[in-house]
Amino acid sequence: MVDDYKDISEHLVFLNKVYELKRKRIRFMQLATVDRQLHTMADNFYSLWNKTSKGFILKDAHIHESSIDTLKGLFGLHDEITIISKGNKAILTFDKIRFYQYLVRHVANINACSYLYNIFYGEENISINTLVKEQLPYLERYIPIFKKFDKAKDIASFVFSQFDIENLWSIIEIYDKIKDNLIKDTAFYKQFVNDFTRLYREDIALKILGYGEISTVMQTIHGGQIDKTFLKIQLYEPDWVWKRMPPINSFQDVETLKNAYHEYREILIQKIGIQVPEQQFRYFKNNGWYTVYAGQKKINPQMVGNVLVKRLDQVNALALFNKVLSELQRWYLFNKRDSSIQVGIDGQISNWVLLSADGALNYVGSNDTLFYIDTSTPLYRINGVEQLNAELFLKNIPWFLRSIIRALFLQEVLDRYYDLRSVVVDCIANLYKEKREDLIPACIKAANYFFSTMDESIQPLTLHEIAKYYQGDAFIWRLFQFARKVDKFVTERIFQKKYMYRLPKKIER
Ligand SMILES: Nc1ncnc2c1ncn2[C@@H]1O[C@H](COP(=O)(O)OP(=O)(O)O)[C@@H](O)[C@H]1O
Ligand SMILES: [Mg+2]
Repeated sequence: MVDDYKDISEHLVFLNKVYELKRKRIRFMQLATVDRQLHTMADNFYSLWNKTSKGFILKDAHIHESSIDTLKGLFGLHDEITIISKGNKAILTFDKIRFYQYLVRHVANINACSYLYNIFYGEENISINTLVKEQLPYLERYIPIFKKFDKAKDIASFVFSQFDIENLWSIIEIYDKIKDNLIKDTAFYKQFVNDFTRLYREDIALKILGYGEISTVMQTIHGGQIDKTFLKIQLYEPDWVWKRMPPINSFQDVETLKNAYHEYREILIQKIGIQVPEQQFRYFKNNGWYTVYAGQKKINPQMVGNVLVKRLDQVNALALFNKVLSELQRWYLFNKRDSSIQVGIDGQISNWVLLSADGALNYVGSNDTLFYIDTSTPLYRINGVEQLNAELFLKNIPWFLRSIIRALFLQEVLDRYYDLRSVVVDCIANLYKEKREDLIPACIKAANYFFSTMDESIQPLTLHEIAKYYQGDAFIWRLFQFARKVDKFVTERIFQKKYMYRLPKKIER
C-alpha cells in the first residue's frame, strides 16, 4: 500500500528534531545563572565593550568570563538555530488542508481532529503557527550573529561590528519575550505529540485467518501505531499471525499473560512433547488500556484441521482424528504422571495443524505430525492454582452477562479443558460445526477404543451424548456471540464509545 501522506509523516519526524533543539535552548535559558548573567549584562551592556578603530571588543575577558559563556550558550551553535528556523518555515508554509486531511485519516473522533489542528493552526487561539510566526523575524535577523559566535574560537579577542553589537543588545532586550514564546511553543507541541500519538490509528489491512471463540486471528498486511517520535510500530510481519486478546487495563495482568503464554508453550513442547509454532508477544498502550497480540509463526492455513477435514475422505479424516488422539494421549499421560503441573488443552480439530511429511494436501500419511496452535488461552495449574487469570477473558463478555457467566459456566468451562473425556467429546462434537457429521460414528468408535487402552474407568461415548453436547455448547457460544453484538450496540450507540473488540462474523452452526 502506498503511503499518500509520507511527506507529512516525514515533516513530523523532522519537527520532532526541531523541537528537541528548541527544548535544548530553553533548558539553557532556564538555568538560574544564565538568567542572572543576562540581567547583569543588560544593565551594564555598554560597559562590557571597548570601542576600537576596528570595532567592538570585550573589555576585560577575564572578569567577564561567565558572561562570555552565557553569550556563547545563547548565541552559539549556528547549525542548530538554522534547523530551528527551517522547521519554523516548514510549519508556516505547510499545506494546512492536507494536514487536516491527514489528521482526519488517522484520528477517529472529529472533535479531536479539530482540537489537534487548532494546536497547530487554530485562528481563534494562540497556536504553534502564531508563536512561530513571531520567532521568524528574530531568527532571520540574528542568524548571522550566531554564525559569528561559532566561528570565534576566542571570543575575547573577537571583533564585533556596530551592527553586531546592536543586534546582541536588542536580543537581550527582548530576551524574556523570546523565552516565553519558546516555552509556550514547545508546550503546545508536546501537547500535540502526546495527544496525536495516543489517538493515532492506521487502517490495518487485515487478512482474517480464522475466528476462534476467544480471539480473532489475523495476519497484518500493513499498518500499526506510532510512538512519540512518530516512528511507526509496524505489525507487518508476513510469517506471523496475531491473535488479538481481550483488552487489559493492568500492566500486571499483561505481564502475567505474557509469562503464561510463553510458559504454556514450553510445557507443551518440553514436558509433553506436543509441537507448537514459535511465538512472540506484543502489546500497545492506548487510553490506559493494553491491546495485546499473541503472535505465532504462521503455518499453512490450508492445513489447519478444520479446513483440512473438509477436503479429506473418511479414511484420511479418521487418520487425522487418530493423530489427534495420540497427541491427547501424551497430554493425558503427562497430567497423570505429574501431580504439581496440570495442563489444560482445547482439542478441537481447528486447533491442530497437519505438517505433511511429503507436502500432500489431501491425505494423511503415517509420517505426518501435528502442531497445536491454540495457545493464546494458556490454561495450566501449578499446585492446583490456575495460572491464567480467567477473569481477563470474561472481559470479552459484556458486563451485563459477566456475573451470570462467571456463576454458571466459568468453572465448568475451565474444568472441561483438563478432562480427557470432555476434550474428546468437544473435538468430536465440533465436527457438526465443520459439517462433517458423517465422520462422527467412526470417531466415536475410535475414541472408545482409545479410552479402553488408556483407562478402563472412562465411560464410552454415545452418539446421543455428542449430539446433546453440541446443542448445549453451541447454545453457550451463540449466547456469547449474540451478547457481544448487543454489547456493541449498547456501547456504540448509547455510550458512543469505540467498540474495543473485533467482532467475529456470524459463526455458522
Ligand atoms: N499459527 C497459525 N498459523 C495459521 N493459522 C492460524 C495460526 N494460529 C491460528 N490460526 C487460525 O486461527 C484460528 C483460531 O486460532 P486459535 O489460536 O485456535 O484461537 P481461538 O482461541 O480463538 O480458537 C485457527 O483455527 C486457525 O484457522
Ligand atoms: Mg481455537
